[in-house]
Parts: sequence; C-alpha cells; structure tokens
Amino acid sequence: MTLIAPSILSADFGRLAEEVKLAEQAGADLIHIDVMDGSFVPNITIGPLIVEAVKKVTDLSLDVHLMIANPEKYIDAFVKAGADIVTVHVEASQHLHRTVWQIKEYGVKSGVSLNPATPLCSVEEIIKDVDLILIMSVNPGFGGQKFIPFSIDKLSRAKKMILSCGSSAVIEVDGGVKLENAKEIVNAGADILVMGSAFFDQKDYKIFMKKLREQLDEN
Ligand code: DX5
Ligand code: ZN
Repeated sequence: MTLIAPSILSADFGRLAEEVKLAEQAGADLIHIDVMDGSFVPNITIGPLIVEAVKKVTDLSLDVHLMIANPEKYIDAFVKAGADIVTVHVEASQHLHRTVWQIKEYGVKSGVSLNPATPLCSVEEIIKDVDLILIMSVNPGFGGQKFIPFSIDKLSRAKKMILSCGSSAVIEVDGGVKLENAKEIVNAGADILVMGSAFFDQKDYKIFMKKLREQLDEN
C-alpha cells in the first residue's frame, strides 16, 4: 500500500497539534516536515523545536525533509528532536556519503533528495546505502506549486535504477501531488506521496483519505 505523508507546511500553524492529530486519525502514514533555511531555498520554516512539539502529539513517524545548506551540522538536533527519517538534498551536501552514514549511525532512516534539474546519476553510488530517495516534483521552497510533468519519467527511471542494483530504497515524491495525479505517480514507481496543500486545504481529511485510497485502488 502507498504511504501518504501530509506535509505540515500547508497546515494551520496556530492549531498545529490538532492538525497533526486529525491527519493521524484520517489515516496518514507519516508526517512530513519541511525544514527551510532561507539559503538553500528562498523560504524559512521550521526548526528542531517544532519537530519536538509535533513528536509529542503523534505516534506517526516524522519524515524530516531538510532543505538547508550544510545539513550535516543539524542532523544531531533533528534526530534528538524526534525525526524518524532524515532526508538531505544531494545539492546541499558536499560529502553526501559521510552525511548519509552520519544519519544512519543515529539509527534513523536516511534519505537523499533530488531537485527537479538534478540528474538521477548523482545518487547512483549512494543508492544502496540509503533507505529513501525523494524525488522533488517542484522546485523546493513553497507549497502549492504545479507538478513538473517530466518527474513521471524520472520516477520510472529511479525505480529501474533501484531494482537493477538491488537497493531496498523506497521512492518518495514531493510537490504538486494531488488526488488527480496520484495514481499516475504511483504507477510510475512512487511508494510514498507527500501531500501538502492537497491534504490540508481539505475540510475533512478522513473523506479526502477515503477518496485518495479509492483513486489508488487501495480501498
Ligand atoms: C516544497 C516542500 C513540500 C511541500 C509540498 O518545497 O518540500 O513538501 O509542502 O506542498 P504541495 O503538496 O502543496 O506541493
Ligand atoms: Zn518536502
């Protein structure tokens, strides 16, 4: 079954605890947390304090997406705050192999993420070491952007690459994922769908999850 990871970037931050609990009750599988530093991406969002606060109100795994420069400096803080998956950007880490192993040594899952224009071959050497590859289907920084169509082909190629080298990495897709394109994205190879605005803009998250599972033929 496809895992659904609502991104709290589109949640109501004034009622964050309640929003996270409602997402959990609606059947979300993970909570996706977008960390932005105003340097790697043109926006500033969440730090370890918020991750710690979210950890206290949910039993779901926290999927922490670091869109920050020099991510290796902050892995310790985010793991201590409660991250269960830590994903770093290939473009932001000069020594990706070292960073990935730094994450693994904490006993949490490690992910690597690729911006839309970053070729898949940049993770070819590391793919066997990671638990997750995050394909960005928008340029990171903001919620509510349009899915970039060539991401579908990139997903299929990522799937082939993983299968051909015997990696156990799962594929996550982030950006512009909606009810309407979810099935096509899953068919192309996605195991985890991040959904920000498509999820949190709904009035009733349970009804939305039901529709989504139907759309994915997973009801
Ligand atoms: C974008 C973030 C996403 C964002 C997705 O930089 O990494 O996780 O929340 O938002 P939607 O689903 O609205 O495109
Ligand atoms: Zn994200």
